[in-house]
Amino acid sequence: MKQQKKITMKKVLFVLVAIFALMQLYHPAKNISGGVSANAIERHYNVPQNVGTLLRTSCYDCHSNNTKYPWYNNIQPVALWLNSHINDGKRHLNFDEFYTYPAEKKIKKLQEIAKTVEKDEMPLSSYTLIHGDARLSTENKKVLIDWATALSKAQ
Ligand code: HEC
Repeated sequence: MKQQKKITMKKVLFVLVAIFALMQLYHPAKNISGGVSANAIERHYNVPQNVGTLLRTSCYDCHSNNTKYPWYNNIQPVALWLNSHINDGKRHLNFDEFYTYPAEKKIKKLQEIAKTVEKDEMPLSSYTLIHGDARLSTENKKVLIDWATALSKAQ
């Protein structure tokens, strides 16, 4: 009886390891378009250099068509988890497609940028935990909030 139980545990472990190994074979398509999209926000609106730098460092990995992938994106299920964040983030807001949004949506998204940054909801804390450089200081938060608010009013 005891021995039988041991074998079962081994089998379970083997299956788990096999699943983990098989998962490594799956790679979701990467979010890399290369270059600046024709509909990118900075091509059509005033994005001062300091604002652009903040957006690229703190937001673009999830809200653009170009993600800078970390090494652990080569490990599943981490890659799947990152991929779902990127897809979800892009669905809500894509700075590289910003110009294609209807006027009302542009205003709403700019207001949401100001709001989510103000409330420390963006960038996601699971992201800033690892990407220390993406954390926004009070000063940089103000730069983003002021920029997004001014641009939303100019629409
Ligand atoms: C690690 C990925 C990630 C990063 C980095 C990130 N976001 Fe997001 N963002 C998401 C995801 C996922 C959603 C959609 C789900 C949610 O609202 O939590 C989202 C949603 C949003 C929304 C839409 C909220 C709504 O209600 O529709 C705004 C605006 C936004 N993010 C702005 C930003 C800004 C500005 C930055 C940079 C300062 C940023 N995000 C950085 C992943 C990210």
